[in-house]
Amino acid sequence: MITGALGSTEIARQNWEHFAVGAAISGISLVCGENVCGIDPGLERDKHGKVTRSPDMERRIEAYRRYHQGYGDILVQLNVEDTRLGVAEYVVEKLGVETVELKWGQGAKCIGGEIKVDSLDRALELQKRGYLVTPDPSEPAIQAAFRDTAIKQFERHSRLGFVDEEEFYNSVKRLRSLGAKRVTLKTGAYPMRELAMAIKWASNAKIDLLTIDGAPGGTGMSPWRMMEEWGVPTFYLQCMTNELCERLRAKGSYVPDIAIAGGFSAEDHIFKVLAMGAPHTKAVCMGRALMIPGFVGKNIEQWMKDGELPNTINKFGTTKEEIFVSYESIKAEFGKDADDFPMGALGIYTYADRIKVGLQQLMCGSRNMDIPSISRNDVMSLTREAAEISGIPFVTDAYREEALAIIDA
Ligand SMILES: Cc1cc2nc3c(=O)[nH]c(=O)nc-3n(C[C@H](O)[C@H](O)[C@H](O)COP(=O)(O)O)c2cc1C
Repeated sequence: MITGALGSTEIARQNWEHFAVGAAISGISLVCGENVCGIDPGLERDKHGKVTRSPDMERRIEAYRRYHQGYGDILVQLNVEDTRLGVAEYVVEKLGVETVELKWGQGAKCIGGEIKVDSLDRALELQKRGYLVTPDPSEPAIQAAFRDTAIKQFERHSRLGFVDEEEFYNSVKRLRSLGAKRVTLKTGAYPMRELAMAIKWASNAKIDLLTIDGAPGGTGMSPWRMMEEWGVPTFYLQCMTNELCERLRAKGSYVPDIAIAGGFSAEDHIFKVLAMGAPHTKAVCMGRALMIPGFVGKNIEQWMKDGELPNTINKFGTTKEEIFVSYESIKAEFGKDADDFPMGALGIYTYADRIKVGLQQLMCGSRNMDIPSISRNDVMSLTREAAEISGIPFVTDAYREEALAIIDA
């Protein structure tokens, strides 16, 4: 299980400590999303416009590292603006980041990343930094409408990336030569041709992990219809991914580790993703599902401070020892440090623990005593259409030959 990339949205920025400490103490990888340096108000750049310092990026990396236990890693993502700003050079050379993620897209985004901006000055600043800002904050008429309060917010959009095979290999080579130990790629809910490009080029470039995010993978602020309807649903992407990976494997080519994202939240989802994608899918990337326990924990912390725990919470108790079932285990593992963990981190740890135990139970039930044993034989299709698309037998066809052999014996 890895977190989805969480980038420059306000939600990710404000809650970062909760997510980062939660991921570190749970031993899962955390992906720091795109544009973090680009929108950092404290950003410092040299005369070529390259980042020399980004306090927000430093804070994010430090928050994960402080309690990192040796499992998982922090990945920093690069999009078009990040590349222009020299984010890779900065995070790898100055901050010692070991894993860098190139981004082609994500479940809900056939456009670039976007955030909302409440102030005219900030909108102008981001436009100057090279972002597309809509409506155009340099237009006098738009400025007047903002002053009149008819326009209350601007949208900051990222530029679209266009992928080119040679350029892609060069970027991977450049990142490795900077010192990145691992290079990963994230791609989105695109049709089969682009999926094949991602898989084949990732294979040629010996990428360490390819994350494929299907619709309706969550996002900071994409319109709901974009999330739900504008991309290829995860199930179809999973099926196409397996077909393409198998084809590569049959040719003896390197197949990168695959992570699948887009709508997953529970241990049975993880089991099914690993089974359907066996032996290539090695991880499930979760965005919103991992953020929610972080928010719940954070809210509990705030309600405790205000002395206003709602009934839905105080029926479990009024202290963190009483409310969080994992708190005593966390204390036993981390000692006094546990007192400083933000409560969102306690929520994420508790959620990760539930996923672990749930997955162990499913594995036990299906007689898979380790993760590599999970195979496509562990799942069956409940509709003929699912069987046709996935190649996983329909329920009355699964194990049919073995069944008939028993009867006929
Ligand atoms: C608040 C928020 C911010 C996100 N920021 C980024 C980002 O910067 N880069 C990216 O590739 N994906 C981003 N995502 C998408 C996630 O990384 C992940 O692919 C997606 O949420 C998976 O779908 P799920 O939420 O259904 O698990 C973001 C998602 C959310 C909810």
